[in-house]
Amino acid sequence: MPHARISPESPIGIFDSGIGGLTVVKAVQAALPAERIIYFGDTARVPYGPKSQVTIRRYAREDTEILMKHQPKMIIVACNTVSALALDVVEEAAGEIPVIGVLKAGAELASRRSGSGRIGVIGTQATIGSNAYACAIQEEDPAIEVISKACPLFVPLAEEGFIDHAATRLVAEEYLAPLVASRIDTLVLGCTHYPILKSMIASIAGPGIDIIDSAEAVADKTRALLAAQGMLNPGTGAAMPHLLVSDLPQKFRELYRLFMGTELPDVELVGV
Ligand code: DGL
Repeated sequence: MPHARISPESPIGIFDSGIGGLTVVKAVQAALPAERIIYFGDTARVPYGPKSQVTIRRYAREDTEILMKHQPKMIIVACNTVSALALDVVEEAAGEIPVIGVLKAGAELASRRSGSGRIGVIGTQATIGSNAYACAIQEEDPAIEVISKACPLFVPLAEEGFIDHAATRLVAEEYLAPLVASRIDTLVLGCTHYPILKSMIASIAGPGIDIIDSAEAVADKTRALLAAQGMLNPGTGAAMPHLLVSDLPQKFRELYRLFMGTELPDVELVGV
């Protein structure tokens, strides 16, 4: 049972290493417009992908503690890297409230959708190195073959706004070639930054490959979980997300517009 001070009106806490998790905020807002969202982006310490497990686990605990001060009714880990390497740390820091990670949601959706049983997964070095996606997909169906590829340059390209850019195309062709050659029928965007590059990735993958965006999968899971607990917000308001960041880089306003398609609301700076 959720904590006594928690009510259906309490916010949903969402965090990522930086701005990538805003793709999850967008999907949750679209699926559950009455929910209040509090988002923490660890913009001072992004990227997490190339860092060690010890560091990622420490950051995961600190990020959760920042959100817990706002008494959320649940936490969404909108970072595949943290979902892969530190979900248990988040669950422990969250205490009694439920935690959903993008990774499991994406793995479940991919295994339901794949017809051929050959699934490609792309993500950060830490996510792919952990093998967590392959394990989560094979937990759903041990017969599925998972072909994984780390795509470390995609995060800086997305943050640079290189969405329809020749440099991104070159990099994406290089990264995706072995996956396409492996005759996958499903490709999981195993990093919350990647939906920004989805149309480029889809055009290189071709029409025969179904692209899975774990942001949408996590939004569906969130609705089901809150409904089962009687914790859906009964309001009708479509509030702006409450944004917390650990640094306010110059490009933040521009990046927010790019990821969310709306103007930046007020932002609160928090120390890490
Ligand atoms: N958005 C993070 C993820 O989903 C990756 C970005 C990073 O490397 O910090 O894994």
